[in-house]
Amino acid sequence: MPGLARFPEGFLWGAATSAYQIEGAPLADGAGPSNWHRFSHLEGAIENGDNGDVACDHYHRYAEDVERMRQLGLGAYRFSIAWARVMPEGRGAVNSKGLDFYARLVDRLLENDIVPAPTLYHWDLPAALEDRGGWVNPDSPGWFQDYARVVFERLGDRVPMWATLNEPILVSHAGYVLGIHPPGHRSAAEAAAVARHLLLAHGAAVEAYRGTAKHAIGLVLNLEPRVPASDSARDAEATRRADIYYNQQYLDTVITGQWPAGLAEILGPACRELTSGESARVAQPLDWLGVNYYSRRPTVHGADPPLHADDVAIEGAPSTDLGWEIHPSGLTQILVRVAERTGKLPLYVTENGAAYIDPDPDPSGVVEDARRAEYLRQHLAACREAIDRGVDLRGYFVWSLLDNFEWQRGYSQRFGIIHVDYATQKRTIKQSGYFYRDAIAANGVTLSR
Ligand code: FCB
Repeated sequence: MPGLARFPEGFLWGAATSAYQIEGAPLADGAGPSNWHRFSHLEGAIENGDNGDVACDHYHRYAEDVERMRQLGLGAYRFSIAWARVMPEGRGAVNSKGLDFYARLVDRLLENDIVPAPTLYHWDLPAALEDRGGWVNPDSPGWFQDYARVVFERLGDRVPMWATLNEPILVSHAGYVLGIHPPGHRSAAEAAAVARHLLLAHGAAVEAYRGTAKHAIGLVLNLEPRVPASDSARDAEATRRADIYYNQQYLDTVITGQWPAGLAEILGPACRELTSGESARVAQPLDWLGVNYYSRRPTVHGADPPLHADDVAIEGAPSTDLGWEIHPSGLTQILVRVAERTGKLPLYVTENGAAYIDPDPDPSGVVEDARRAEYLRQHLAACREAIDRGVDLRGYFVWSLLDNFEWQRGYSQRFGIIHVDYATQKRTIKQSGYFYRDAIAANGVTLSR
């Protein structure tokens, strides 16, 4: 094919989802309620009063979903494990039926030559732990380590690629500063404690994994280039703060074991220095790092503490139907930056994708979503560019395999390369899914349309 840019041999082509967003049946087989289960049932918390009670019913339809993955030719599947299925109270008793579900899923993936790539924590905390203060509680890293051990014990022999946490900044920021995710608090001091405990929890899980030492373990961060929206000094200063807070807070700390300079000024005295023991735990060697990327963020000075920085849209810039700017070169930029920061660590794009208001499947079963296919093509080309610039990028996971429950936005946003009819649970591969299948088969993309 003319203009086809190939990816290195062995490049991993995947798709991603998370437990609460697709599984449904949140209390099945002895599972405990999660914070998201509880939060989504609060009046007014989620758009349209939606919740994850049914979602994509993946808990019952996982075999059908693996079959679709096979049809797409996926090499890997990134999913998450619901802690409250495994330990209904978050600690103590293990619910083997909950683990059985993930064991069945993993087996089915392996039978289809699809690498299972689970994330231990994609935001759904057992509600019983939230009642004990959740991530603000200094015991939380220990709870997480115990849970991780149970999961490694059951699945560690056949799962080659693990992630500890997904996007910890969203846990601390959306949950404890903005209050739009559970527990819905607004406290910079709590957010500082949460960041510390999340990083220690990550480290504690890596330590537990090394004890069983089988394959590879990493962390997933969402990183976005911050750019000042004007040439004013105030906006430049706000952009600098936003970069420290959103990007460096977790990336730098996990690499260096120290909070980035300037973070304590933003978060206040609760952002205490890490002791040497804590530093070592947080920054122990990883096998890979995952980058989730959707957009860049033009930034202006803002009124709200603690950050005093707001994201703005650039007028006339192309965007998805969710209003997120389409800026593929930002992905190259962030990958190059992470590679410089992390040295030789293999990188993966662990999420990238776009929300569009798609037409329903037509009578012949076609879902025409050319814009999403083009978004994916542009971002894959940006990955290719990063590889050309020397980044050791090992794989790419599209977000998402399925349309699903988009957190506080409920089902109003569709990110899938497979359409889900929520009334019937029928799946239909979208045109973007076929585009992705062809890219996988060719191990490459065309660089221009
Ligand atoms: C990321 C989340 C993922 C999904 C996408 C759109 O921040 O990790 O669960 O919601 O955004």
